[in-house]
Amino acid sequence: MHNPLSFSTKFAWLFCMMSLTSQAEPLTQEQIGQLLFFDPTFSNNRGQSCSSCHDPASAFVDTRKTSANGQVSLGDDGHSFGNRNAPTISYAAAIPEFHYDPLLKEYVGGLFWDGRARTLADQAAGPPLNPLEMGMSDKRAIVLRLKENSSYHSLLPPKYQQNLHLEISDSDIEQIYSNMTEAIATFERSAFFSSYDSKYDKFLRGEYELTPLEDLGRSLFFSEKNVNCSTCHSLYPEDDSRETFTNHQYRNIGVPSNRNLIAHNRLAKEYVDQGLLDNPEVKDKRYAGKFRNPTLRNVAITAPYMHNGVFKDLRTVIEFYDHYNNPERQINPETGQAWQPPEYAQTVDLNELKAQPLTERKIEALIAFLHLLTDERYEHLLSEKTP
Ligand code: HEC
Ligand code: HEC
Repeated sequence: MHNPLSFSTKFAWLFCMMSLTSQAEPLTQEQIGQLLFFDPTFSNNRGQSCSSCHDPASAFVDTRKTSANGQVSLGDDGHSFGNRNAPTISYAAAIPEFHYDPLLKEYVGGLFWDGRARTLADQAAGPPLNPLEMGMSDKRAIVLRLKENSSYHSLLPPKYQQNLHLEISDSDIEQIYSNMTEAIATFERSAFFSSYDSKYDKFLRGEYELTPLEDLGRSLFFSEKNVNCSTCHSLYPEDDSRETFTNHQYRNIGVPSNRNLIAHNRLAKEYVDQGLLDNPEVKDKRYAGKFRNPTLRNVAITAPYMHNGVFKDLRTVIEFYDHYNNPERQINPETGQAWQPPEYAQTVDLNELKAQPLTERKIEALIAFLHLLTDERYEHLLSEKTP
């Protein structure tokens, strides 16, 4: 399968290259990170960049037609697919470093659905070398490509900047590679990824008035008596402007296997994603099947949902939560059949999934609330999705 750079990615890369390299001052670390993020040079066939799977035009998710109905991402080799849905990386800067909190007795933070990259920089080191993603052979090959473009030369120690033919030692390769991943992480920490300018943010600042439906959604979302969303999807007290709608802990909410994905990737029928147990720092089987509670910012435009992309609509996600509490909600509206059993049944956090059953109006209100969490520059994408 041919895997050309999408038009929007190529355009973004050219635009970014032209505007940044025409300036007189040396590039900042953040600007270098920006160039790297869009630059397809760091994939084996020069066909893929971070932005291929994390498109800034749609809240940094994979919208390519090649992405198996948006469920999983095609790699640079043009035929390999990963087994997990690419999450938004908007607001990923708010995710703390992976750690075990002895007071909470919980694992917290880390990047990827299983937290296996401790920090954004550790995370950025992965995709260029991942054979299912950008597919470069080793760090040296990547550093050689960095040398091709003078915009990146400040990432090299001075002696190599002065003499580009000088053979780079193994330890300097490590150093240059980590300078590169730090630059990408610096860009990911910029306001470009976390703009805090959704209608919800404007409401908190007194610049937007909620409709009655949105207001109902907000009180349901935060109410501990009625609905349980805030148990896992909030870190701060209600109405704190820093909220990214996750406490960064790990839970199993009983998401079913994605049969389409299993068939598409020709996985074994009984394939199970172990979630947190795939993190090399975690050995205890009690954590199998748990995934990091994802942010809900921009969620209205980042379908499909869950680690395996098994649900297409927000409404399905909410009806899925409700099926634990509402005998009338036993059919998955996307399949017209009963909900499939959990992918990993032994560790589902059933206690935290208990809540009052939801009426139609409450479901609509929760959807309206989730729409409020869309950054201003993506609001135009909501127009077709009004609940
Ligand atoms: C081929 C598609 C693809 C490419 C290319 C790619 N990613 Fe990803 N990215 C994914 C997928 C899929 C995941 C989730 C994987 C997992 O959880 O195991 C992910 C996860 C992430 C996360 C973690 C988000 C979170 O909430 O945990 C960050 C940050 C990220 N990618 C940044 C990058 C950067 C930076 C690059 C370029 C150096 C990049 N990605 C290249 C597909 C891709
Ligand atoms: C027990 C913790 C918990 C509770 C309670 C909870 N969630 Fe979640 N939520 C999660 C986890 C964990 C995931 C990801 C699960 C997976 O991929 O396997 C998730 C995923 C989601 C997603 C999909 C996000 C994406 O990017 O794929 C949405 C939307 C969502 N939750 C909304 C809600 C709403 C609305 C409520 C309240 C009705 C709620 N959640 C209650 C833990 C929770």
